[in-house]
Amino acid sequence: MLRTHLTSVWNLRYPIIGAPMAYAGRGRLARAVSEAGGLGMIGIGSNEPAEFFEREAAIVRGTDQQRFGFGLMAWAIEKRPELLQAAIQARPFLISISFGSPEPYAELLHQHGIYLATQVHSREEAIEAARIGVDLIVAQGTEAGGHTGDVGTLPLLQAVLDAVQVPVVAAGGIATARGVAAALAAGAAGVWVGTCLLASPECENTEQVRERIVGSRETDTVLTRVFDVAQGLSWPPQYPGRALRNHYTDQWHGDIEALKTNDAARQQLARAIKEKDYDLAYIYAGEAVGLVKQQQAAAVVVQQLGDGAEQLLHERYRALL
Ligand SMILES: Cc1cc2nc3c(=O)[nH]c(=O)nc-3n(C[C@H](O)[C@H](O)[C@H](O)COP(=O)(O)O)c2cc1C
Repeated sequence: MLRTHLTSVWNLRYPIIGAPMAYAGRGRLARAVSEAGGLGMIGIGSNEPAEFFEREAAIVRGTDQQRFGFGLMAWAIEKRPELLQAAIQARPFLISISFGSPEPYAELLHQHGIYLATQVHSREEAIEAARIGVDLIVAQGTEAGGHTGDVGTLPLLQAVLDAVQVPVVAAGGIATARGVAAALAAGAAGVWVGTCLLASPECENTEQVRERIVGSRETDTVLTRVFDVAQGLSWPPQYPGRALRNHYTDQWHGDIEALKTNDAARQQLARAIKEKDYDLAYIYAGEAVGLVKQQQAAAVVVQQLGDGAEQLLHERYRALL
């Protein structure tokens, strides 16, 4: 048994949190992760309807009251405060509010007995998160899939662990037991993993996307604003998204200004998304995509990460010390 804040205080079997992934990770994936002994999270896209929360929460909770979390974007809550209200009403164990400050919401969540997490991208953001009283800091490196910052997971994790007393989990680029063991050995309370679950059947991804995930290498991603700009989304520009490279990113990543005013290119993307043409449409995924070698049930992924890390830490301890 691995003993960290997440297993001793939060009582998880494994110190593993299934990252919130809007449109990709919903109730089914969260349930599989929680049932396996991690904490599953449901990603909330900026245009999700209010009914979404209770429907997906019911799927995770089941009859055995599995715990789960929601992952929201601060900039989306600012535009649609009803997202946070709906999240609270669905009684999650944890809410993460990232990509903007969670400060205005910390007290409210705590009044409802809900833990608050936030993803940080610098030492300063971690210190600020600790000041406002978040319960879990997620050090999200630039290797991560989806929207992220520009500091690598390892330098960020070291800086954050040195700077705060709050439990910290590592996110970005972790997809094997070695990655989990490294984060725990450094002092993290656990890991927050997304990309390694993208080929699991409980994900909302299609077979076609799962095959692309399994077939991609660690060098096949790009951190880009292309898809946000082309869809007119309100993502703050300091958070680009890491996705699989394709014809669309090859064409527009170096020419964002031109893309902003190119209606034909924007319509081309809208069509591609509708038609599931992934030579043009996005598949958000992190550099760890190169480590995802097969389609495996989420429970198997979680168990391999957790049990594998425990075994590795034993072996390395004996070998090194
Ligand atoms: C497809 C996808 C969608 C994501 N959507 C969200 C989201 O809605 N909210 C959020 O806070 N983070 C989101 N993330 C980031 C994850 O929470 C997490 O930081 C990341 O997956 C960790 O890195 P990894 O992908 O290398 O495991 C997303 C990541 C992916 C791959």
